[in-house]
Amino acid sequence: MNKILIIDDDEWNRVLMKDTLNKEGYKLVEATDGEKGLAAVKKENPDVVITDYLMPGLNGLELLSEIHKFRHNLPVILLTGFGDVGLTIKSIQMGAFDYLEKPINPSQLKTAVRDALELLKVSNNLQNIIPEDISSVLVDNLLVGKTPQMKNIFKNIGRISMNKVNVMIQGETGTGKELIARLIHFSGITRDNPLVVVNCSALTESLLESELFGHVKGSFTGSIRDKAGKFEQAGEGTIFLDEISEVSMNTQVKLLRVIQELEFEKVGGETTIPMKARIITATNKDLEELIKQGKFREDLYYRLKVFTIHLPPLRERREDIRDLVIHFLNKQNKRFNKNLNKIGEGVIELLQKHDWQGNVRELENTILQAIVMSKADVLEKENITLITRSQPVAESPAEMPFKTLAELEKFHIKRVLDELKWNKQEAAGYLDITRPTLNAKIEKYQLSQE
Ligand SMILES: Nc1ncnc2c1ncn2[C@@H]1O[C@H](COP(=O)(O)OP(=O)(O)OP(=O)(O)O)[C@@H](O)[C@H]1O
Ligand SMILES: [Mg+2]
Repeated sequence: MNKILIIDDDEWNRVLMKDTLNKEGYKLVEATDGEKGLAAVKKENPDVVITDYLMPGLNGLELLSEIHKFRHNLPVILLTGFGDVGLTIKSIQMGAFDYLEKPINPSQLKTAVRDALELLKVSNNLQNIIPEDISSVLVDNLLVGKTPQMKNIFKNIGRISMNKVNVMIQGETGTGKELIARLIHFSGITRDNPLVVVNCSALTESLLESELFGHVKGSFTGSIRDKAGKFEQAGEGTIFLDEISEVSMNTQVKLLRVIQELEFEKVGGETTIPMKARIITATNKDLEELIKQGKFREDLYYRLKVFTIHLPPLRERREDIRDLVIHFLNKQNKRFNKNLNKIGEGVIELLQKHDWQGNVRELENTILQAIVMSKADVLEKENITLITRSQPVAESPAEMPFKTLAELEKFHIKRVLDELKWNKQEAAGYLDITRPTLNAKIEKYQLSQE
């Protein structure tokens, strides 16, 4: 029978957990503070520990590190009422197996315990990746999000920031891809090394290559001196390749080579330079679709997405909107030396109804605009301007006046016919279709001459 140790100063919580886990057939032992908990770990030899964070004496994280000195791979689940991102990431980085927020949800608790036991069984533990120095983990509430999707992402950041796997971040425009990339870099083992950002869509093929790999003097017109590339500049840190879908097939081959051989040459140069950086890529396109279309190499794709983070669009995590609004109010208040500290009636409801095609960036801009417009200290409904689908956000698909291909086709055929004064012979020739086909389309779309 598996033995679970529960450490919490709150009796009610212990009872709740005991009740839930008893039904699952585990043997339970309990302790009321950190010191007693540590003694129980040594005496009882449990399979899983569940500990509160805030307790008299040792707190949950201190206890965690004490426990791991004693039993390196004992899964520890941390509980806390303070659902902040910094703590989530830190606890996972320190080797906590999981993190549950109070009030405890019995089914989450059961799942966490079951997973922990499973992990113990395969002895595939995360504790091996704990760094010596975790003191300067800097992440505060930089990234806002309390929805389960976002909390899961934070946990994953904690995990991947401690080893240098390549990470691919997928998400619509404005969902926070760059922010996540920065968080991964600054919260883990790469944080004392450079973070270098390259926007792959901004440059032509040859410029991008020289930007990435550097070039030697005279390798092309205008290259008057040797230049270090971004891979070299990133050193043992992180290179963030934004909009990776825009990289040409030729450059993709070169990138693949760098990843496989962990070295590269400058454009026009011969000496090989080692590649030690972690690669984080971001995209708002469906790369699997691009692979099908032959526009993206599958082998490169798998090399880049050793770990993938899918950032959900804001409309799928509307519960985060309130916290984001408060976060942006604080941020912009400082910037504009304002003191907007109240949210007017109905504002959050209004914002939660919007579909946020531009995601968090659009929300941030909306709040910024409202702050600038407001005179008093209240964020008022009147000052909030929402972009509707008919005046869409730049770059979003809604920018197109048509949703379906059929709508576009109907519009195009009508325009051609009108231009050519409904001369169907000419129109069919212009559209490169036969007359019967044109007639069928006129029929289908019920087009007529005004
Ligand atoms: N969870 C979040 N908490 C706080 N701020 C956020 C969050 N997500 C995004 N932001 C803010 O929203 C803005 C857009 O984020 P970011 O630039 O990271 O998006 P992106 O996904 O890289 O967008 P794009 O695809 O257009 O490049 C930034 O100002 C960022 O700080
Ligand atoms: Mg971006």
